[in-house]
Amino acid sequence: MKKFLILGIETSCDETAAAVMDADGNVLSNVVFSQVEMHNKYGGIVPELASRDHALKIETIVNEAILKAGAKAQDITHIGVANGPGLLGCLLVGLSFAKAFALSKDIPLIGVDHVRSHLLSVMINDVNNGGSFPSFPFAGLVVSGGHTSIYLVNSVDEIRILASTVDDAAGEVFDKVARFIGLEYPGGKVISDLAKLGNKNAVKFPKPVIKGRENDFSFSGLKTSVINYFRNMGIKGNVDRNDSRALNALAGFQEVICEILVDKLIGVAEEVGIKDIVIGGGVAANYRLREMFLERASKKGFTAWSIPIKYCTDNAAMIANYARLIVKDKKDAQSFTDSMSSISAYSTTRR
Ligand code: KG4
Ligand code: ZN
Repeated sequence: MKKFLILGIETSCDETAAAVMDADGNVLSNVVFSQVEMHNKYGGIVPELASRDHALKIETIVNEAILKAGAKAQDITHIGVANGPGLLGCLLVGLSFAKAFALSKDIPLIGVDHVRSHLLSVMINDVNNGGSFPSFPFAGLVVSGGHTSIYLVNSVDEIRILASTVDDAAGEVFDKVARFIGLEYPGGKVISDLAKLGNKNAVKFPKPVIKGRENDFSFSGLKTSVINYFRNMGIKGNVDRNDSRALNALAGFQEVICEILVDKLIGVAEEVGIKDIVIGGGVAANYRLREMFLERASKKGFTAWSIPIKYCTDNAAMIANYARLIVKDKKDAQSFTDSMSSISAYSTTRR
């Protein structure tokens, strides 16, 4: 019998990614091609350009992932692919490629949810997490450009949503503030680099309160106050990266967003009586969020699980990993027709 080897494919947004993983969750290769340069001049993702570029790159990226894993296409025993949420045209490129690959090699295809893959990437075997991960149940926050939700993970296939944003996602707020003041897309990483140079206590922004839905998130009010703060300073599309007033405002903005995210996750976990907590998704790459998460969780007696930064932003190792866990759990995979019928597209208004 062939040794289990799964190929993961991710094309839901602006990264064309492929990865190869073994049965124990060891990442044998993880190739990510980011389209960020192409979209940068438009200040956000252009869906038509994104799907065309995926179509151009997918084969090369998959071949590179298989080669880097020291394998051949015929060694792959399973294939996992992100089947939503995401931009429809982009998802279709990955799905069509994965279906063709699965059919030609006569191997099972497992369609997986992109957001839940972020969450379960805490179970990727990596030296950076010492090869250890939480046991079920655990509570996890996925915080990305399109999502900000807290989940209760009872098992691989029993994942319940406990709280989510009523308006913008946290990553979207980073991106929109960055765009307003004239920083490049995506704004999260750029803001976090600049925020390091500012004083996080100099400018205080208000924390939103949602009456009757205290566990949920709301970021649109915060976004408006930060944007108004910059507007009142005369900053619109022309921020000077050496202006200490702007750096302080960015540090204060980052601080409050991190506080909201960490405190809500801890509060919700306390409510459901869960001691193991996780943060995943692109914004979880933020240094201040990671630092605060560890600090506040340990103060309150929680075990905080950090996902290595390279598996926080979009990648295919997380897709391979979730598909691997499903196969392990179910012992047999869904058919490719199941995954095709479960494509879910979401609105593209986030960027
Ligand atoms: O998970 P991801 O790569 O894609 C989606 O599924 O959306 O997340 C992308 C988001 C973007 O909004 C980006 O600005 C944000 O993650 N991001 C960060 C950082 N790195 C990426 N936000 C804050 N700090 C960072 N270091
Ligand atoms: Zn993502």
